[in-house]
Amino acid sequence: MTQTLSELNINPATATAQDDRTLVIRDLHVVPIADRSREILRGINLEVRQGEVHAIMGRNGSGKTTLAYALMGHPAYEVTSGEVLWKGHDLLKLSPDKRSRLGMFLAFKYPTAIPGLSVASFLRTALNARMRPLDQGNDPAYDPSDLTRGGIKLVEYRKLLREKMALLKLEESFAARYVNEGFSGGEKKRLEMLQMAVLQPNMAILDETDSGLDIDALRIVAEGVNAQLNPDLGVLLITHYQRILNYINPDVVHVLAKGQIVASGGRDLALRLEEEGYAPILREAGLVLDADEERETPEPAEVETAH
Ligand SMILES: Nc1ncnc2c1ncn2[C@@H]1O[C@H](COP(=O)(O)OP(=O)(O)O)[C@@H](O)[C@H]1O
Ligand SMILES: [Mg+2]
Repeated sequence: MTQTLSELNINPATATAQDDRTLVIRDLHVVPIADRSREILRGINLEVRQGEVHAIMGRNGSGKTTLAYALMGHPAYEVTSGEVLWKGHDLLKLSPDKRSRLGMFLAFKYPTAIPGLSVASFLRTALNARMRPLDQGNDPAYDPSDLTRGGIKLVEYRKLLREKMALLKLEESFAARYVNEGFSGGEKKRLEMLQMAVLQPNMAILDETDSGLDIDALRIVAEGVNAQLNPDLGVLLITHYQRILNYINPDVVHVLAKGQIVASGGRDLALRLEEEGYAPILREAGLVLDADEERETPEPAEVETAH
């Protein structure tokens, strides 16, 4: 006699998860809310284990940022089908806040300065929110922002912050600065890396912008990530150009095109992309390229910026 999963009292989502250390993305389809008729992700399949670094490479407009946002639950995107399993949960059913509490991290961009809010207080609030247990609902007796009702103790926090700042070779004065006020591009990247180090995620999604990341910023990210690598941290590094992979060594490289992963391989795949561009690999994957796609965007030269 066969029984259905529900008769066995097994959640079909968790029943298919291989283990609790792997982010499993299955047949993910995503549309932007602004234009639901336009499917950007058309069946993404991907597994990233804690302790592994996966790079996702793709041309402009291939859907890289959409993938990062969909994984974090950005309201501008709707998942129309597929599932994402993480630590026994169907991630897509959880709020962005709960995803973060489950150890997912997306490097958030704070384009505007927050005068009066120091880096140290900003990160402490973020850490308290992240450490809130998942099953802790809106218990009024527990408020991590209130020292008397939970949250990390100030002495402990100072110690943690000092450790992480040392790890990232940051000067102590950085913690006292106001969030993003007068920050250079490189300093914004330093803040992102410090935020990641303080939050200690189990799965970090880093979406490197296709342009504007100069070699200085790129090294900050690479050195920041490398300093933090550990067996509990999985990294999904999203990038248009392979040059960041000169500094961060990925275990697996995936190529995203037309909303799907069309090729996966080792570091050699990234090197091949650098040499040949995307067109040959996309053609091999059976994709028909239009004239525009046949043209290659050259990798930018590595130019040092003035400090
Ligand atoms: N919020 C949105 N509304 C409408 N179209 C979008 C939205 N976000 C992304 N797109 C479109 O989806 C495609 C993929 O975008 P994106 O994920 O940003 O690609 P990438 O990061 O690889 O450059 C692009 O053609 C883009 O114009
Ligand atoms: Mg992008």
